[in-house]
Amino acid sequence: DKGNHRHFMEKEIYEQPEVISHALSRYMDFASNTISDNINAIDFKATSSLAISACGTAYLAGLVGKYWFERYARLPVEIDVASEFRYREMPLSPSQAALFISQSGETADTLASLRYCKDKGLKIGAVVNVRESTIARESDAIFPIMAGPEIGVASTKAFTCQLAVLAALALGAGKARGTISAEQERELVRHLAEMPRIMSRVLNLIQPQMESLSRELSKCRDVLYLGRGTSFPLAMEGALKLKEISYIHAEGYAAGELKHGPIALIDENMPVIVIAPFDRFFDKTVSNMQEVAARGGRIIFITDEAGAAASKLPTMATIVLPDVNEIIAPMIFSLPIQLLAYHTAVFMGTDVDQPRNLAKSVTVE
Ligand code: F6R
Repeated sequence: DKGNHRHFMEKEIYEQPEVISHALSRYMDFASNTISDNINAIDFKATSSLAISACGTAYLAGLVGKYWFERYARLPVEIDVASEFRYREMPLSPSQAALFISQSGETADTLASLRYCKDKGLKIGAVVNVRESTIARESDAIFPIMAGPEIGVASTKAFTCQLAVLAALALGAGKARGTISAEQERELVRHLAEMPRIMSRVLNLIQPQMESLSRELSKCRDVLYLGRGTSFPLAMEGALKLKEISYIHAEGYAAGELKHGPIALIDENMPVIVIAPFDRFFDKTVSNMQEVAARGGRIIFITDEAGAAASKLPTMATIVLPDVNEIIAPMIFSLPIQLLAYHTAVFMGTDVDQPRNLAKSVTVE
């Protein structure tokens, strides 16, 4: 049932504040602002490093997770798309743990990677939506993302719920490994607790602007997305979302890679979507944006209030989100990315919920 939405994808985008609060409350206690003990189903303290494997959007969630595990838990992370991971013959040892991220829990390559790691004696954790799935069944520890059924082929609420669970796991790992203090834990959990409310506000705030910008995007043949730090996987997720439902060619790049190739593509016909919260990477990303502007590129700047105030570069559009803590920025910045892809596809009249050639669950290699 789509309720009063035109597509499941739209419904699922607007469901995010609610389902994210379910995901958060499973792994956090908001009375004490602490991470719950259920994340200890993986013994992060005893783990030498973490291997993460997944496909598509779930892989991009894992890539954001990598930044968090390394930063907050000082836990080295090796991550790869499952179709490569399973054949890489990576040296693995039982002192490592492995995490598999999958909405459906049935993706063939992810399952094969899981079995490979299990065979090598690693402890297996699964971040899944479907709890009765094969990946869930074959894991030692299950971390449900609590997103509820996701019908639209393009993943939206599963992505942000995966991020919420990965944030909890990374902070829990940091707590177990003694790399974050009790005070930091309380502070970060407090920020995460505010996320559902901020998401609702942002969805309402940006909707009209996303719709009018999508009219412009729908005329383009190619779109480039740029980001740094956790905004780099978001840039790739933005490009993936746009290409899969609107069929516009899009690519996501690390902002610093711009001058190593993609800058050759910049002209007035290819919009560049720059994702840049006012974080410690902001100035670097803005200098990349400057390189785009200097070559006549049209910029869609997705930033926050502090970022909008700090950059004076001319843009085609600036999307101003509220200033939020770094730990929740990837979830909040997912919203304009999803809405831009959604409205662009609606303008173009594509089958938003059932894009051509794609299946919701990929059970063959
Ligand atoms: C993109 C998308 C796909 C899936 C991928 C993995 O919007 O939905 O890229 O993320 O096929 O699927 P799961 O998470 O079910 O393993």
